[in-house]
Amino acid sequence: MKLEGKVALITGGGSGIGKAAALALVREGAKVALFGRRAEPLRATAEEIRKSGGEASPITGSVANDKDVINAVDKTVEIYGKIDILINNAGVGLVGPLLHQTTNDDWKLIVGTNLEGAYRVTRAVIPHFLHNNGGVIVNVSSTAGMIGLPGASLYCISKAGMIHFTKTVALEYAKQGIRANCVCPAAVDTDFLAPLISDEKAKEWLYSIHPMGRIGKPEEVAKAILYLVSDDTAWVTGSVLTMDGGQTLQ
Ligand SMILES: NC(=O)c1ccc[n+]([C@@H]2O[C@H](COP(=O)([O-])OP(=O)(O)OC[C@H]3O[C@@H](n4cnc5c(N)ncnc54)[C@H](OP(=O)(O)O)[C@@H]3O)[C@@H](O)[C@H]2O)c1
Repeated sequence: MKLEGKVALITGGGSGIGKAAALALVREGAKVALFGRRAEPLRATAEEIRKSGGEASPITGSVANDKDVINAVDKTVEIYGKIDILINNAGVGLVGPLLHQTTNDDWKLIVGTNLEGAYRVTRAVIPHFLHNNGGVIVNVSSTAGMIGLPGASLYCISKAGMIHFTKTVALEYAKQGIRANCVCPAAVDTDFLAPLISDEKAKEWLYSIHPMGRIGKPEEVAKAILYLVSDDTAWVTGSVLTMDGGQTLQ
């Protein structure tokens, strides 16, 4: 197993890509702390993992709240003794308003969760990585951080920020054995896209913007996350792995 004895903190670990990543890491021997706002999906995911023989702990709170973040990191260390892996996956979207129609509250929600949330959690975890002489971070950005999406400016800004955030962290801590990489998926079949997928016309459009003719599966993104946290990528840091069925080639 590739992650025997490793401990991972996964934000947004109760659903979608975060849940798929948790299951993939546990299958390779990791223990996982699942951090999110809603208790029920976290509890259900932890239960599923325990039933399969793995170890998982749900921790409720928001990445947008400093106290919750410190509590999540402290609890993970209290339960498992350390943190080796951080997956900054928690995210929210906003599609519709053009930039001049967005509000400070929109900015606070989207940028405050996606980008600042990753910043807050990383800032709290790095001292533990330094103490352990290393650690691995994977940030879940998006192709929306690479190309524009009209009506989703704040989401695009937050995800573009995560890409540069990844490179900055990778550079600052390269000598301390801390690696940081980033995945940029295009559309993935999770609750995040449920409103679009449930509308036949919107779904058709969504599929059509991916040259491979389909959207991604959370398990496919999870495999990339597993690859980036494992020693298979021991010399890889600051990289941006696009996974998009060809969307950004056009
Ligand atoms: N699905 C896509 O098409 C797609 C494409 C590219 C990138 N992504 C990114 O992938 C990541 C995961 O999304 P997903 O597709 O798996 O959708 P999802 O199932 O809605 O997952 C989002 C997760 O983030 C958590 N979350 C949201 N706000 C939070 C907060 N303030 N504090 C802690 N946790 C929070 C949610 O849990 P709670 O609500 O319980 O807090 C949820 O578990 C997101 O960052 C998203 O931007 C998704």
